[in-house]
Amino acid sequence: LLLELNGRSEKGDVGGDDGAVHSEDFAKLLGVEHVAIVGVIKSLQAHELIDVQEQDCKRCTVTEEGESYAADGSPEAQVFRKVPADGIAMNELKGLVGKVYDIGFKQAMQSKWISIQKGAVTTVHRKVETIQDKVQEILVGVKKGLEFSEKEMEPLRKRKLISVQPYKVYVLRKGPKFALKKTKPATDLTRDMLASGAWKTQEFKMYNFNALGIPTAGGHLHPLLKVRAQFQKIFLEMGFEEMPTNNFVESSFWNFDALFQPQMHPARDSHDTFFLAEPATARSFPEDYLERVKNVHERGGYGSTGYGYDWKRSEAAKNLLRTHTTAVSSRMLYKLAQDGFQPKKYFSIDRVFRNEAVDKTHLAEFHQIEGLVCDRGLTLGDLIGMLNEFFGRLGIKKLRFKPAYNPYTEPSMEIFSYHETFQKWVEIGNSGMFRPEMLLPMGLPSDVSVIAWGLSLERLILR
Ligand code: PHE
Repeated sequence: LLLELNGRSEKGDVGGDDGAVHSEDFAKLLGVEHVAIVGVIKSLQAHELIDVQEQDCKRCTVTEEGESYAADGSPEAQVFRKVPADGIAMNELKGLVGKVYDIGFKQAMQSKWISIQKGAVTTVHRKVETIQDKVQEILVGVKKGLEFSEKEMEPLRKRKLISVQPYKVYVLRKGPKFALKKTKPATDLTRDMLASGAWKTQEFKMYNFNALGIPTAGGHLHPLLKVRAQFQKIFLEMGFEEMPTNNFVESSFWNFDALFQPQMHPARDSHDTFFLAEPATARSFPEDYLERVKNVHERGGYGSTGYGYDWKRSEAAKNLLRTHTTAVSSRMLYKLAQDGFQPKKYFSIDRVFRNEAVDKTHLAEFHQIEGLVCDRGLTLGDLIGMLNEFFGRLGIKKLRFKPAYNPYTEPSMEIFSYHETFQKWVEIGNSGMFRPEMLLPMGLPSDVSVIAWGLSLERLILR
């Protein structure tokens, strides 16, 4: 197409149309259907290689019925020709004409070519000497590709002897960016273009700022995080404040020592705890508090005998991935004591890490839910009541408690709930009242008690 356009414009004038190419002529030239080149035209137009002028056209084709009349004459002509000069009985005429008699008769009557005479036998007579079968002429003409006026075509279209399909043709001229080859505009400026200088002449594709981006996949909460949000809601509804749990790395001091967990406790073994290689140790601690913690471990106080061992700062300084969120609770309670004690309800739900062999009930990384209430004069009854309330809001109504041991709580209780499907009691959490050996070195008033509980989010969901 581009070559053809170029050739014509060079010769000046072909077909009297200033070097333009008519899409229909071009299709004929190539011997292809017109529709086959429309896509090419549109694409060249989009690249401004060619200018396109649209023209509405109609394509006329003769229908199957039309074809038979083009060959044998219109039904009305067929009827007329069978009528002799002195008339004929209608029944006889019918037999002579055959299939097309009914419409032929009707049309011939309308055209006033024939008339009838009623009597004992109804007869048909010519009203005119000769006729011109215009219908046949047009049908034959259309087949040859001749043009007829709208007025001439309309009755044939109504009789479904011809069908008219509108289509578009194009008058094509050289466009503003005419070239003999379609080049693809570049989408990106490359290093090579800059190096070679090709960028100076390179054509670039325009950004389409109207294009819609790829729809983003809808976000969904992971089932675990969904349940986490439910717990969060329950805590908030019960008036709890969320503790900041964004530090996965903790020192042994806050994770263990502040919780009166002795330095030779098996949980502190590297089999149970992930220690950090880099940075291996924490540097700054509240020194006076650290001293009180050291003393309570070594010699006791506050009515306690302590553990009676040599407490080492180097052991407390070891960094680890926190093994429980109770590390955060100890930081928060220490802070509360420094800020001036006020009753508080705290909670957190976040990740903890344990050096576990992973199996169906153990993960090296899981979420711990932790709640604590600190106030003056709290008792074990308050803890039991709080747990009933908390789990009750989850739909867990039947609870049982079993005495247990934690280095930092006394008394301590494992929490069991009755599993309706498994028909047995299952452990769902751990709880207790923080020991004076933990609370008093922090500087909390001596009549303040802290009730606390913790559980695994994953465990609870599994159940
Ligand atoms: N920190 C305990 C655990 O890791 C849970 C707990 C929290 C127990 C608070 C008592 C009080 O399982």
